[in-house]
Parts: sequence; C-alpha cells; structure tokens
Amino acid sequence: MTTTRGLEGVVATTSSVSSIIDDTLTYAGYNIDDLAENASFEEVVYLLWHRKLPTKDQLAEIKKELAENAEIPQEVVDHFKSYDLKSVHPMAALRTAVSLLGLFDSEADVMDPEANYRKAIRLQAKLPTIAAAFARIRKGLEPIKPKSDASLAANFLYTLTGEEPSGVAVEAFNKALVLHADHELNASTFTARVCVATLSDVYSGVTAAIGALKGPLHGGANEAVMKMLKEIGDVDNVESYLHEKFARKEKIMGFGHRVYRQGDPRAKHLKEMSEKLTNLTGEPKWFEISTKIEEVVTSEKSIPPNVDFYSASMYHSLGIDHDLFTPIFAVSRVSGWLAHILEQYENNRLIRPRADYTGPDMQKYVPIEQRG
Ligand code: CMC
Repeated sequence: MTTTRGLEGVVATTSSVSSIIDDTLTYAGYNIDDLAENASFEEVVYLLWHRKLPTKDQLAEIKKELAENAEIPQEVVDHFKSYDLKSVHPMAALRTAVSLLGLFDSEADVMDPEANYRKAIRLQAKLPTIAAAFARIRKGLEPIKPKSDASLAANFLYTLTGEEPSGVAVEAFNKALVLHADHELNASTFTARVCVATLSDVYSGVTAAIGALKGPLHGGANEAVMKMLKEIGDVDNVESYLHEKFARKEKIMGFGHRVYRQGDPRAKHLKEMSEKLTNLTGEPKWFEISTKIEEVVTSEKSIPPNVDFYSASMYHSLGIDHDLFTPIFAVSRVSGWLAHILEQYENNRLIRPRADYTGPDMQKYVPIEQRG
C-alpha cells in the first residue's frame, strides 16, 4: 500500500463547485478576481449552490429567504447566557450552537433535496446571527435582531456593534466574505463531505466542518496572525522576531499553502483592503508590519502569504475582536460547505480510505493475570 501524507495531491472526488487550476481560483467557472470586485456575497451564495449567477429576481428571492431565516431560536441565546463565556472560544460556541440548531429544526433528518436546500438557507442565514449574538452576550449586551432589508455583510456588522456600518466597512466586509466562500477540497469542506457521505444530516456536516476550520493550520490562522502582529508591535521588531521563529523552525502564520505554488490569488485583495482600512482608522502600523513580514518571509523563505494573512489587519481595522476572525471565516465558508454537502448527497458514495498499518505484528492474547 502506498501512502500520501496529508493526502497531498490526491484527487478525492469530482466537484463542480470551485476549482484551483494553475493558481487561479474560480467559483463555478467565475474567476475570484471578478467576483471580488463585482459580486455581492448573496450572489456568490446563489452561484455556489446553483452553479450560475442569479437573475435580479433570483437574487431578490434568495436575499428574502436569507433575511426571513436570520433570527435564531431563543434557546440558543439562553444557552449562551447559561455559562461563563469568558473562557469559551467563539469557534467552540459556534460549533455547539450549530449542533443545537439542528434540535430545533423539524426537518433536520428529512433527506430530500428540497428539505436539504431549506436547511442550507437556514444555516447560511443563522450563522452570522449566532456569531454576532455570542460576541454581544459575552460582553453583557443583548443580541440585536437582524434587519430584514440589509445585505448579509451589513447585517453582520450591524448585529455585532448595534451601529449602522459605514459604506466602506460594508464593501470591505462583503469582499472578504466573497473571497472566503469556497475553496475546493480544503480540510473543513472535505470534513463536511466525509460526514454527510455516511448519509448523516446537514447540521452534522456543518458542525464537523466548523471543528476542522477552527485549527490554526486552517481557518484559525487569521486569529494567530493578529496575535503575531501584536507580539511584534513595531515594524523595527519584524526581522528579529521572524529570525527567532525561523531558528526555532516555527511556522509563520498566514503563509504557505498546500495547493498554491506562486501565491494565493485572494491575498492581494485583502492586502489592498488592509492598506485602505488601516489608513482610514489611523493605524497604518498594522499594514506596515504586515508588509515588512511579507517582505522578509518571501525573500528569505520564498513562501507567499495566504488568505489569512492580510485579513487579520483588515478585520482588526473594522473593530472586530480578534477571536471572531475565524467565526467570520465560517460565516462565509458555510456557503461553500453547503454547496459541497448538497453536491455530495446528489451523487453519494461513502468516503472510506485505507490506512497503511504500522503497529505491532500479530499478538497472542494474554489473560490479565499472566501479564508482566
Ligand atoms: N512558515 C514557515 N515555513 C513554512 C510555512 C510557514 N507558514 N508553511 C510551510 N512551510 C515550510 C515547512 O516548514 C516545510 O519545510 P520543510 O520541507 O523544510 O520541512 C515546507 O514549507 C512544507 O510545509 P508543510 O507544512 O509540509 O506544507 P503543507 O502543505 O502540509 O501545509 C499549510 C500547508 C498551509 C498548513 C502550511 O503552509 C502552514 O502551516 N501555514 C501556516 C498556517 C496557515 O497560514 N494556515 C492557513 C492556510 S490557507 C487558508 C486556510 O485554510 O485557512
């Protein structure tokens, strides 16, 4: 048996949702660069779920469905209020809340395409509300009801802060959501597909995916990048900080990728937004530190930044708590997970690879009294 560590280069399924070919990322055939510049996140959700861009009517319809389903059960709010949130990571809270949501969906275990699509709408609509509600409740604030006529990007910022977000903030946040929406067979998407390929339900698939996204080698990297920026603190400290990391053979968060070789095509958009927003907030130092890190890591290690690197300083500039960066990734990526879950159900086969056994040779069972 031959093994491929980390399944590198293994093609595990066919998919029409998104592709990475020659370092170009497309969603159903649309280049991510075009979508980042032009599309609303809701258009992208429609695109991922239907593999075509919506007409005006179709877009209005999906926006309406998302708005109508954005409120969360009071039980989820009460659950958050029932324990000490200071020690709880928001990704753990989100994972648990999504699992809990399944208990309040009478269709949770109904396995037909229409019911699964309705669950997709509910999950996409409710994830932002859950993340914002958690962030408020842990500060002793009441959750805010989402507006019925706002975009998902505007609504998230509004339900998080209680204030009307600026046009610049909404535009930047929408772009970040578009850029994070799907990414072929990344670890969390693969997790979701493995889970539902057993014919388990949509809530289980999304819960499992959140667990995979939480890790610092995947979505958790954006929070880890901000931690690094704060530890560095000043552009003059970048080189010594990185040289110590290199000497200890530690990874630099927000750099490297399993698939891209020349660089992550999403990073340049986030870099642009980071520059703009850090200037607007009067804190250009976060962008300056970031660009200096990029300069050193690319010149000394030839490893380019990935999507998580500049998203850290960008989200920071929007006034978002650092441990909410990864939940925001989930708020966007759930659109991709759901597209892949629905696709998996359409043409399902159990995903069950093999392991190359490296344990002890065949042993003879020894009764416990005779063991030394
Ligand atoms: N810093 C320093 N060295 C690195 C880094 C990095 N960020 N990434 C890869 N390398 C080196 C690694 O040490 C190894 O060197 P050597 O061959 O000398 O041992 C070589 O490059 C290959 O690394 P690998 O860990 O085997 O590569 P992988 O394909 O298994 O891992 C990765 C990909 C993204 C997990 C990895 O690059 C990494 O850990 N990056 C930091 C965490 C991060 O930013 N994750 C976000 C990924 S992109 C978006 C997302 O999923 O959220």
